[in-house]
Amino acid sequence: MRLVNLGLLACAAICSLQAQSLRSLAEQRGIRFGAAVAPSHFSETEYATVLAREFNQVEPENLMKFGLIHPGPTTYSFGPADSIVAFAQAHAMAVRGHTLVWHNQRPKWLTGGTFTPEQLFSILQEHIKTVVGHYAGKVYAWDVVNEAFETDGSLRKTMWSNSPGIGLEGTGYIEQALKWAHAADPKALLFYNDYNAETVNAKSDAIFKMAQDFKSRGVPLDGIGWQMHIGTKPQIAGMETNMKRITDLGLQVQITELDVKVSVDSSGAATPAGLELQAKVYHDIVALCVKNPHCTAIQTWGFTDRYSWIPHTSKGNGAALEFDVNYQPKPAYNAILEALKAPR
Ligand code: XIL
Repeated sequence: MRLVNLGLLACAAICSLQAQSLRSLAEQRGIRFGAAVAPSHFSETEYATVLAREFNQVEPENLMKFGLIHPGPTTYSFGPADSIVAFAQAHAMAVRGHTLVWHNQRPKWLTGGTFTPEQLFSILQEHIKTVVGHYAGKVYAWDVVNEAFETDGSLRKTMWSNSPGIGLEGTGYIEQALKWAHAADPKALLFYNDYNAETVNAKSDAIFKMAQDFKSRGVPLDGIGWQMHIGTKPQIAGMETNMKRITDLGLQVQITELDVKVSVDSSGAATPAGLELQAKVYHDIVALCVKNPHCTAIQTWGFTDRYSWIPHTSKGNGAALEFDVNYQPKPAYNAILEALKAPR
């Protein structure tokens, strides 16, 4: 009898723990909760355990980018990203692909070469066809084009747009990339992804205008990705307005690269007050997504402060994720759980 009781107690503890994971609560809400990952950490037991326990989506932080997956003109390196897909499949997680068309992290053969627009057209077509084709049925959503707009809403000048470009005017190259991706995997959801475009501003206005145009002409665009590498003063009301206009068009919104940086000392530690403020920001953003049925995924850019790009790019800042450097949940983690519990 005593043993049985103990067993029941143990089960109650474990079962409630499982019921409390980010992934189980997200599943109950019908959304995905993801993390950007690097397979070089999979051999670290705690990394793999927390990732599999807490998340139902992964995205390669770097390994599907042009420079890494297509390192030579006729060479593709699928192995590292394939190992992320294998991890995801073993743990019933969805995979987001990131990213097919971007001005950063391109291979040397591309940045160092001289190409005509006709040649670039063929290069990009072949790249998208090959990469999306390789992951057809395995990657459910792609960031097809990343960061194509400037802060003032103008189109960024890049190798793909007009310097020299693939030979198409304005947002024509984005449209073409979406069409190539759709042809390579008609079932994949296709996203345009950008930063500082989550609230209403010149950049998000330009993205919205493009989305309206694409939707009206049947261009295969399924959603807008909000990167959201942010600090502790998000404009929630503006985000809600922007999310509504996007989802009213029939598009999804996915929060794709969330991290909330705070000030840290020279050892990388944040203050307790900083972490509480950060928790509130995470709460409010997750709550915003949970409220709108067309906000279908929330993903953090990494999940442990042990491996985060923030300290490397933003001096004096860090501790931006929901688990600390020792894989312990932070106030942000509990705040996300609370927000995920709210009914839709
Ligand atoms: C970052 C990675 O986190 C870093 O490891 C890499 O050195 C540079 O790129 N927007 C994006 C991401 O779309 O791909 C970037 O990822 C962060 C900004």
